[in-house]
Amino acid sequence: MIPLNPILSHIDNIPSTAGKFKPEKSSVCYIHHRLRFHISHPKLTLWPIIFLSFILFFFFLSPTSTTAPRRGLRTTTTTSHGGSSRWETRLKSSAKPRSCTGHTVLVTGAVGFIGAHASVALKRRGDGVVGLDNFNRYYDVNLKHSRKSKLLDRAGVFVVEGDINDDVLLRRIFDLVQFTHVLHLAAQAGVRYAMINPNSYIKSNIDGFVNLLEAVKSITEPPAMVWASSSSVYGLNSKVPFSEKDRTDQPASLYAATKKAGEEIAHAYNHIYGLSITGLRFFTVYGPWGRPDMAYFFFTKDILNRKEISIFEGDNHGTIARDFTYIDDVVKGCLSAIDTANKSSGNGGKKKGEFRIINLGNTSPVSVHKLVRILEKLLKMKAKKKVVLMPRNGDVALTHANISLARIELGYEPRMDLEMGLKKFVKWYLDYYDVKKKSSW
Ligand SMILES: NC(=O)c1ccc[n+]([C@@H]2O[C@H](COP(=O)([O-])OP(=O)(O)OC[C@H]3O[C@@H](n4cnc5c(N)ncnc54)[C@H](O)[C@@H]3O)[C@@H](O)[C@H]2O)c1
Ligand SMILES: *[C@@H]1O[C@H](CO)[C@@H](O)[C@H](O)[C@H]1NC(C)=O
Ligand SMILES: *[C@@H]1O[C@H](CO)[C@@H](O)[C@H](O)[C@H]1NC(C)=O
Repeated sequence: MIPLNPILSHIDNIPSTAGKFKPEKSSVCYIHHRLRFHISHPKLTLWPIIFLSFILFFFFLSPTSTTAPRRGLRTTTTTSHGGSSRWETRLKSSAKPRSCTGHTVLVTGAVGFIGAHASVALKRRGDGVVGLDNFNRYYDVNLKHSRKSKLLDRAGVFVVEGDINDDVLLRRIFDLVQFTHVLHLAAQAGVRYAMINPNSYIKSNIDGFVNLLEAVKSITEPPAMVWASSSSVYGLNSKVPFSEKDRTDQPASLYAATKKAGEEIAHAYNHIYGLSITGLRFFTVYGPWGRPDMAYFFFTKDILNRKEISIFEGDNHGTIARDFTYIDDVVKGCLSAIDTANKSSGNGGKKKGEFRIINLGNTSPVSVHKLVRILEKLLKMKAKKKVVLMPRNGDVALTHANISLARIELGYEPRMDLEMGLKKFVKWYLDYYDVKKKSSW
């Protein structure tokens, strides 16, 4: 089997028609099966060998004719990705699963916190992965570049730098690779930033999402879609724990409103085009390589810098608490959502693709006071605390997930408690920023 691999990759590189590549999976699997057949039935070895020699013969005979169509493509395409054959080759090789049963997944928001971890996990278990991210500057873009070089590059995940609003780019990627799944995590995240830049939420979470769905539904065999909604859709709902059936029509922020809109938009695309769509409502995800705009992250930074931190309190000194969910648990939930997703039935299909909305939380909320106590212990430093009334700028008092549906649908069982998870985060934080300090000397 080993000597076949280089041959297979050559075969796969022969374009059938200029610029348009058909799924490679079937051809790989075909030869793969022939090979197994050939090993178990020695008398029938002749035909496979003739078949392979035939292909090899033509490959070596006409090297120029195999590269010509691509050179043509290079000169006609003028995107920032150059349309170079090297770009295409890297993208396609990253998209290739290790075995026939592996998935081929496009991950949007791939250099984001959850996207980077999910991409690496998919690649490590043998799936083909292509990342897409616009590397925007909502928070320190160096962290995104580091996630790329330290996590994604090392795992062999190719990341396309581009926007989900770029429909030419999307079409190009979907023409090159037949994806089985799209894990859509690209979004304008964060609740408070909507008061500064409301349009960024509309642009990525609504326009961009629709643009991606339009591209997906136009594919002959559309991939199944798994995407990130948010616990914030529960808004002012005060019934806990939050169940998927609870009301979600009272958003407390524009961010929440765009995520809720996304759920409704997804439903329409499921209904009309038969797309299989799973929306995951994440609950305060934290961990190594996390997001600097989140409290656990900037509390750590401020405590280390001996800066005062503001601890929010609800009305009547009510506690603010979050259902903190560790990144590895969330990633497991994402992978399982991919594995259990039904196929999209596609345009005109008789069968309807499935539509799911599932909570992914930890189901044990922790107060902000406790969060700070844990951080103080781990950092061996006392925080300078100031308790203030939570301003009405988008945050809600409490989140708490009912994860019964995730257990049934995904076999999901969160493992990490906040203390252990923060220990891993703090270890990463000290490491990451120390290394940077040293290297900038
Ligand atoms: N982290 C959490 O606690 C949490 C909770 C609920 C929901 N979510 C959702 O999960 C997803 C991932 O969150 P995260 O914490 O990894 O956030 P993140 O900001 O780290 O990752 C999002 C990535 O998407 C990219 N991006 C944004 N707009 C884009 C666009 N128009 N085109 C291409 N790329 C774009 C960004 O550059 C970023 O790298 C988001 O949809 C977010 O709303 C996160
Ligand atoms: C999804 O697939 C499962 C198993 O094949 C099937 O029982 C279920 O009805 C499907 N759901 C939809 C909505 O197609
Ligand atoms: C959690 O949700 C399930 C439905 O998914 C429901 O049957 C159950 O009663 C809920 N549990 C609580 C504690 O609300």
